[in-house]
Amino acid sequence: MNVRTAVIPAAGYGTRFLPVSKAVPKEMLPLVDRPVIQYAVEQAVEAGIERVVLVTSAGKGATEEYFAIAPALEAALERRGHAKLDEVRRVSRMVELVPVTQAEPLGLGHAVLCARDAVGGEPFVVYLPDEIVLAEPSVTRQLLDASERLGGSVAGVIEVPRADVARYGVIAGEQVEERAWRLSGLVEKPPVEDAPSNLAVTGPYVLSPAIFDCLAAVEAGAVGEIQLTDGLDALAKREPVFAYRFEGKRFDAGTPLGLIETAVELALERPELASELGAWIKDLAKRIDG
Ligand code: G1P
Repeated sequence: MNVRTAVIPAAGYGTRFLPVSKAVPKEMLPLVDRPVIQYAVEQAVEAGIERVVLVTSAGKGATEEYFAIAPALEAALERRGHAKLDEVRRVSRMVELVPVTQAEPLGLGHAVLCARDAVGGEPFVVYLPDEIVLAEPSVTRQLLDASERLGGSVAGVIEVPRADVARYGVIAGEQVEERAWRLSGLVEKPPVEDAPSNLAVTGPYVLSPAIFDCLAAVEAGAVGEIQLTDGLDALAKREPVFAYRFEGKRFDAGTPLGLIETAVELALERPELASELGAWIKDLAKRIDG
């Protein structure tokens, strides 16, 4: 499937990261030397996506600034022949960023609906920027292939312990492939006893533009917000919607502990950091045990 546009909702207050998120959008918190949001943008670009609609809110200018060209910085790095010049250049030219404002924090579904005019009437991908997956082929590629093969919208899911289902959107459906389910419905943050499965949506999502009509019609649901899960539940009653249990190593950088774990794991993937960091972790483990 040929998808040209991605939507990245990044308008929330990031309350789990207060007080730092007062001034630094949580999507801009660092994983080693890159902001969290860069992992979603890189994946989109790698999958051939040309435009990223960034759903943002007041006080989040740092994210747009990060992806914009910085002429003075580039000139200074160039004069010094600095090794980071290429990367700085690449970040600011990798994608067309289209900022869209979500004026009120009415929920993830509402944030996606704010991107409607910018997306137009085409299928698109939604990334939850806190959700980071290391996979080969990328999770985006896996979902785009599944969408083409199965013929419909697709949401990335993971299997979670039943005790954790209340933190997620949870799917109900019929298994159609080893890793795919055709959905009959979805529930946002169900109590464990009502959860239809232990398959939790983490995204990304490959969505038909019909999702916008569904989102425009849903009412506030779990935690008083307009939920993307409820929009997908409505979509699944009109068109084929699938869940795909992707292959890969998934990290949740959306909590302080998760961010630290993700940063360590990603640092261990970096050849210039891996051996020193590994030695320090072993020493630390001894000190904690001792
Ligand atoms: C959001 C979605 C939920 C999804 C989760 C994955 O919830 O509403 O459906 O399962 O992300 O991280 P949040 O984490 O914003 O409460």
